[in-house]
Amino acid sequence: MGAGNFSTGDRGTLVVFDSSFGNTQVIAEAIAAELGQGTRAVPVVGLGLDSLAGVELLIVGGPINGWRPSPRMQAFLAQFGHGTLRGVRAAAFDTRLRLFVHGDAAGKMALEKAVAGAGSIVSAIHR
Ligand SMILES: Cc1cc2nc3c(=O)[nH]c(=O)nc-3n(C[C@H](O)[C@H](O)[C@H](O)COP(=O)(O)O)c2cc1C
Repeated sequence: MGAGNFSTGDRGTLVVFDSSFGNTQVIAEAIAAELGQGTRAVPVVGLGLDSLAGVELLIVGGPINGWRPSPRMQAFLAQFGHGTLRGVRAAAFDTRLRLFVHGDAAGKMALEKAVAGAGSIVSAIHR
């Protein structure tokens, strides 16, 4: 999916999510609806860096898979290089099992975005 397939919200906000069973999608769409002003939640599958054109606030969310972000989310984040997100504010959230050994994805996603130069990074931890 490229930049022509969807638009960011009026405030340049994009919610990118991965979801195999629908849980993360529900949360991503709720966040987009709450932000309003045309904000879209888009699946990460096949998403390239061109999708970030004009994005001022990037929110990424996905399930924890094996104590880390899902493979599809990792593939998306792996495209980022140093400075890819310079000037972009960013936030990350994950969904997980209610286990004491659940691991972490939001923190790792936030770290990758920090390396890519994003500012004002927020990592949401759900219990
Ligand atoms: C292959 C696989 C690995 C998973 N690994 C973890 C994990 O390490 N820690 C955790 O808390 N949950 C783990 N889960 C549970 C999912 O993160 C959780 O059910 C999530 O909400 C699913 O999101 P989705 O419905 O959007 O796909 C795993 C699920 C699958 C299918």
